[in-house]
Amino acid sequence: MSFTIDATACGVEAGDRHAPLIQVRALKAGYGERIILQNVDLDVFPGEVLILLGGSGCGKSTLLKQMIGLEQPLSGSVLINDRDVHAARGAERTRILHGFGVSYQTGALFGSLSVLDNVLLPLEECTDLPKPLRLRVARMKLAQVGLAGFEDHAPSELSGGMVKRAAIARAMVLDPCVLFLDEPSAGLDPVTSAELDALILDLARSLGMTFVIVTHELASVFAIADRVIMLDKSRQGIVAQGDPRTLRDHSTDPMVHDFFHRHVSGRGKGEIPEPLNREPLNPEPLNSEALNPEPLSP
Ligand SMILES: Nc1ncnc2c1ncn2[C@@H]1O[C@H](COP(=O)(O)OP(=O)(O)OP(=O)(O)O)[C@@H](O)[C@H]1O
Ligand SMILES: [Mg+2]
Repeated sequence: MSFTIDATACGVEAGDRHAPLIQVRALKAGYGERIILQNVDLDVFPGEVLILLGGSGCGKSTLLKQMIGLEQPLSGSVLINDRDVHAARGAERTRILHGFGVSYQTGALFGSLSVLDNVLLPLEECTDLPKPLRLRVARMKLAQVGLAGFEDHAPSELSGGMVKRAAIARAMVLDPCVLFLDEPSAGLDPVTSAELDALILDLARSLGMTFVIVTHELASVFAIADRVIMLDKSRQGIVAQGDPRTLRDHSTDPMVHDFFHRHVSGRGKGEIPEPLNREPLNPEPLNSEALNPEPLSP
């Protein structure tokens, strides 16, 4: 397959920051008979850091998978730069897929490959660049995420934060204009998580990269989000969107208020929440993806 590094892989012209890059319209999504999301409408604008928020099981990962065309909607559409992600076929689909990178919630690096080989994989699968150039691009991406010197390490020799950064290097190796990151800071200590936030901000501000990020970390939300979209399980969709500080300080929606102020629903304000290590109130069935490694790209 022929491939050139294309800075406008999504077809967005420089300066065209007001036209949405991604448009989700009347999206209904679920699994079998079970509806998880409905009436979802949202836009993602070029260069913004958009964060998807909400309690466990509300459908954040489901929405993300719909946005990248990995799951088929029950109805509605997802357009990336006016191209329908789910309807596209052949060369058009390939072009859309090359326009974004993904780091999955349960995805990690392939343990049997070195860090460099992990980052090389998409270049080998999707491009016909000569090997020296592939190596140069992969090394450059690793340097961009602060992993120069770790190319030959096995993933098991890296810290959790380094693995996340390597996964981001792999997600951005084809120079996508959008990066989708599902829980990038899950399991990281606050300092490492803050370093990852700084990396994301740097990539967004210096390269103009667009980010759609799922996270539970409120510190990350306030550090990096230009805008948040909040989903709710019982209402099966978006309950609030906008500037996170405005939502925190002014939302009159009890669910939004509780989320930002870390209150457990049904308790009086200021009461001490349950310890975090108790059993979940509503255990979710095991997501099949937890058992299977993620594909590199959909
Ligand atoms: N492949 C699947 N098949 C069937 N049900 C699924 C599948 N993936 C997710 N679900 C269900 O859909 C609902 C939403 O799941 P999803 O993973 O989108 O939630 P989430 O908001 O990302 O949660 P978390 O914060 O825990 O990651 C859950 O009830 C989950 O069990
Ligand atoms: Mg999830």
